[in-house]
Amino acid sequence: MKYYITVPIYYVNAAPHIGHFYTTMVADALKRFKTMQGYEVMLATGSDEHGTNVERAAKAQGKAPEEYTTLIAKEFEDTWQKTGLAVDRFIRTSDPRHHETVRWLFERCKERGYVYKGSYTGQFCASCNLFVTDAKPGDNCPDCGRPTETITEENYFFKLSAFQDKLLELYEQQPDFMGPEIRRNEVIAFVKQGLNDLSITRTNITWGIPVPGEEKHVFYVWFDALITYMTAVKDLDLWPADLHLIGKEISRFHAIYWPAFLMAADLPLPKRVYAHGWLLFENDKMSKSRGNIVRATPIQEVIGVDALRYFLLREVPFGSDGSFSYDALVGRYNADLANGLGNLVSRTLSMIQQYRGGVIPAPEPGVGDEVAAKAAEVIATYKEGFEKFEFSKALEAVWSLIGAVDKFIVTQAPWTLVKKPDQQRTLDGTLYTAAEVVRLVTALVYPVMPESAAKIWNQLGMTDKLSAVREDSLAWGKLATGHTIGQTSAVFPRYDAKIVIPKMLDLEVAEKARQAALMGKKEEPAADAAPSNISPIADPIDIEAFGKVDLRVGKVLKADKVKGADKLLHLSVDIGEPEPRSIVAGIALAYQPDQLIGRKVVIVANLLPRKLRGLTSQGMIVAASLEGGSPVLASFLEDVPVGARLK
Ligand code: MSP
Repeated sequence: MKYYITVPIYYVNAAPHIGHFYTTMVADALKRFKTMQGYEVMLATGSDEHGTNVERAAKAQGKAPEEYTTLIAKEFEDTWQKTGLAVDRFIRTSDPRHHETVRWLFERCKERGYVYKGSYTGQFCASCNLFVTDAKPGDNCPDCGRPTETITEENYFFKLSAFQDKLLELYEQQPDFMGPEIRRNEVIAFVKQGLNDLSITRTNITWGIPVPGEEKHVFYVWFDALITYMTAVKDLDLWPADLHLIGKEISRFHAIYWPAFLMAADLPLPKRVYAHGWLLFENDKMSKSRGNIVRATPIQEVIGVDALRYFLLREVPFGSDGSFSYDALVGRYNADLANGLGNLVSRTLSMIQQYRGGVIPAPEPGVGDEVAAKAAEVIATYKEGFEKFEFSKALEAVWSLIGAVDKFIVTQAPWTLVKKPDQQRTLDGTLYTAAEVVRLVTALVYPVMPESAAKIWNQLGMTDKLSAVREDSLAWGKLATGHTIGQTSAVFPRYDAKIVIPKMLDLEVAEKARQAALMGKKEEPAADAAPSNISPIADPIDIEAFGKVDLRVGKVLKADKVKGADKLLHLSVDIGEPEPRSIVAGIALAYQPDQLIGRKVVIVANLLPRKLRGLTSQGMIVAASLEGGSPVLASFLEDVPVGARLK
């Protein structure tokens, strides 16, 4: 029995944070659960490396895209390894084997008549790598809020419009194809509105997979990215995937475009797509620009990665948005892990040590029957919870068993039984019951907390590997008697929030700086950070004085380096006059000449001309001047005509 799970291949324009960790960790937990059920499970992810954004990010750091993406892809791979996530395949979209799959799928769609050549003009969001349907010039992208650009290009189109009925039929016949319900409904509503054909190639970028026989075209990143799910298992005959686990914002790509591509190519469809909600940090969406990103490894170093896994699966109902905070994390850890599970393990093992010399005693008929019945019920609820991706409910059930056995222990009072010679069998039965709950709970929490569960397993003296435990052991009474427990120590020590939170925050700051350095960026300050150390504001002037300055929009026609002056560029700028202006600007360290051609800039048009290095400069270009840093040219989000005056 095989089971193939995928999580998104993450963009390399950001380093991994707990949002990425969340999806990958849930897939890891599911993998462990499915393995327990006897499946051979494959988990694939990777890195989404192509597109304008990445090309720009690499260029901004003076790196070739290949070099830049290799660095960040490694950062993702390292994070999964460090945090113990059992990823089997990591596919980079830049991998030539993947290029081959993409071309193969494209040809299949084309052969079957679902691909044609056309021309497209639209508003393109470089950040989302998407043409924004129905947007007008000047509109911002509805997904990320950033400005769109007007782009016309010759494209290959995919006949998405041909799949409206087939997709609706799919959602109808396979109601759990897309989940949860709320996302399914959104997807159905979107398809019912009617589907436009989708442009699947681009000509305005070079960093992508070349289209066969078309030198100028590369594939649209989403066409390229989704196909990694097939590339990952090309050699294994594992397609179709059993589950694509994703964040809710990419439902449309996975539940509409992807099955349509596959239908067109006459290939089997994934069995399920399931979307979870957003992890918010202190009720705000985590994002690079807000500077409120939390990373997993600092938490791992201070209180262990299992604490974070448990928190995320227990606290956030899977499918809904959920909030992360360090306070809530430590609070839950102390309540459920240190006090709840940790306490049960240590009191059970220490009683067995003290009263029975560390040997697991035999069960006693009639003792603990109600706990055994509860355990059977909990195991069923737990399994159902995992099947339905209701991890929080599954864990809640497990903790209700911990509560039940805690109560049982108090009622039985082994510390009293031990003193009564005629109650020794009852004491045996009581200790066996407690130990059997520890065994079962440990096996049940293993998918969620693999490291801690393995420790408890050893302490209980179990000799088989926890990862090798299968479903048939999840039944009452399978704990063998007569074996000796192992060395005990606290698996979940209590933590003082006042001590551990500052430690995590310190490591978080260090980790953030390390990642920023890796990406060659200055650390981005939080959006709400107060501006500091700005240069003093100049003396006041009246409006007439300002009116004397004539600022104009210009377009750079030519840009050349100036011999012998490595800071200067000689520009030819059209401001709508009969002749372009000659302008010498000190921006050569920040901009390459060819980056500037066609760019709209702002110039001071009525400055007296002056000579620089023998060249006449008929104006000054306006740029933000960063202290110790390079100039950043003023520019417009909207399209503005050449010659427009700034007032
Ligand atoms: N590259 C595309 C996916 C292509 S899949 C063929 C992409 N990449 S991404 O880097 O932006 O990752 C998005 C995914 O990361 C989300 O779908 C989700 O799985 C995860 N998350 C990133 N931030 C998140 C939160 N703050 N909260 C929860 N998950 C989030 O989209």
